[in-house]
Amino acid sequence: MPAAPKPAPVAAAPAVVATPAPAAAARPAPVAKVEAVKAAPAKPEPEVIKGVTRREFLNYVWGASMALFLAQFGGISFLFAMPRFREGEVGGRFTQQIGDFGLDTNGTPNANNVGKFWMVKVGDSINAIYKVCTHLGCLYGWNSNGKIFACPCHGSQFQLDGTWIAGPAPRNLDRFKMQILDAGGNVLATSDDAGSMIKVPAGADRVVVDTGAKITGKAHF
Ligand code: FES
Repeated sequence: MPAAPKPAPVAAAPAVVATPAPAAAARPAPVAKVEAVKAAPAKPEPEVIKGVTRREFLNYVWGASMALFLAQFGGISFLFAMPRFREGEVGGRFTQQIGDFGLDTNGTPNANNVGKFWMVKVGDSINAIYKVCTHLGCLYGWNSNGKIFACPCHGSQFQLDGTWIAGPAPRNLDRFKMQILDAGGNVLATSDDAGSMIKVPAGADRVVVDTGAKITGKAHF
């Protein structure tokens, strides 16, 4: 049997010559980007006034203003807390010795023109009666003949103790609060809320009339 033909030799594949990879193109050295950096606005230097910054100076001014305001507020509060009237001023207190009234049992009132009141005595009781009429505010006077208080404006009349007698006045005369003291300053008697006559107690030395504490006379109708 004939031998099978030998297959033709296969041409050897040409050797692949590795070609060197082209060198990577040399990157150009990065050029330092010099960008103009915008300069941040320079912080202004704090203004210094004689070693003190402007901010400190304003703080001091603000603090001084507050201190001044508080001082004024405190001063005004203090003045409000003070008595509005001094001793011997109308609206304040008047002290009289019991023996100085010049009152007698016939009922002659003793005028205190500064304090605008009458000291009156009826029997062994006394009172301080406001000199202003309870009708429309006229100053009334003492009528020694009739032994009454009489108002020249519209004819109102009152007894020595301030009780209304006649005329348009709607109420008794107003009184002032009183205290009767002994020689040591101890309070022996004080006006009641109605401003009734006060019986002079034994040992009484002086009376203090508070013209800042008016007691409204009782209405008679
Ligand atoms: Fe005194 Fe009128 S004011 S009676």
